[in-house]
Amino acid sequence: MKHLLKVTDFTSDSIIKILDLSKRFKDQRKKGRRYHNILEGKHVLLYFEKPSTRTRISLEVAIRELGGNPIVARRDELQLSRGETLHDTAEVLGRYIDGIAARVYFHKTLEELAKHSSISVINALSDLFHPLQAIADAFTIREYFGRLKGIKIVFVGDGGSNVAHSLLLISAMLGMDITIACPEKYAPKTFVIEEANALGEKSGSEIHVMEDPSKAVKNADVIYTDVFVSMGFEREREERLKVFIPRYQVTRTLLKKAGKRVVFMHCLPAHRGEEVLAEVIDDPAISLVYEQAENRLHTAKAVLACLLGDWNGI
Ligand code: CP
Ligand code: NVA
Repeated sequence: MKHLLKVTDFTSDSIIKILDLSKRFKDQRKKGRRYHNILEGKHVLLYFEKPSTRTRISLEVAIRELGGNPIVARRDELQLSRGETLHDTAEVLGRYIDGIAARVYFHKTLEELAKHSSISVINALSDLFHPLQAIADAFTIREYFGRLKGIKIVFVGDGGSNVAHSLLLISAMLGMDITIACPEKYAPKTFVIEEANALGEKSGSEIHVMEDPSKAVKNADVIYTDVFVSMGFEREREERLKVFIPRYQVTRTLLKKAGKRVVFMHCLPAHRGEEVLAEVIDDPAISLVYEQAENRLHTAKAVLACLLGDWNGI
């Protein structure tokens, strides 16, 4: 059974194929062709323990446009919230449906679901990874620059966030250079850095983690940030903002230090005045955020088609 819990569940060749397929979906949709039968007769549960705008809606639209049936459930709507085990839940769901996309507090929940499931499990965000976002980000970068290899991404902010982790891994897989500029306390998890370094050796990707954002952004093609307080970390809000805002906010001044034309990316939702200023995120000459958000739909379709449907169906 093929799952997508983290981007490295796919090979780099499969990711490139997913990006190519996403491009076909995007082009077709622009020409008015929205509907396919790739997921005809397939039911997919969208299970959410946390809020979501992009992931929830793009997945639901993607499944419908591929001819499948999305079933949305929040945690409080399932017996999981009253103590039913993940094992029983996974066993039973496998007898009704064809796939589960789940947004969870703990990555272990996804691993447990996948372990006991006879159907594909897709990570719709966990505390550790956000693979659907990273695939859309790689697509957006390739679309904008026309290539991936050698593009330099600098992620500024919470290096331990799900988005930073996934960006690190996908960059290392696809030969993009990535630098994470973050406070030491909020560095990416060691096992993620180690995995990225191993992948980078094969792909030629240069990987760095450093504290100084001004130094990090030199020659950047992309400056990327995410919220300073991810879902599930609200109790640390005050402490995090105290560390991050004075040094890790993305401003025009920081962008100028890149020394060349640089674009800004953010997974959204954004908090203007915290991780980024409006002067950056709202400048259409610099900011790719809406295109990036749109691409969540096209890339979600490609991922679903790959995991649950027929590759050659479009
Ligand atoms: N980027 C992203 O995953 O957004 P949502 O939280 O709105 O799904
Ligand atoms: N790191 C953020 C991403 C939101 C899409 C969070 O987990 O809240």
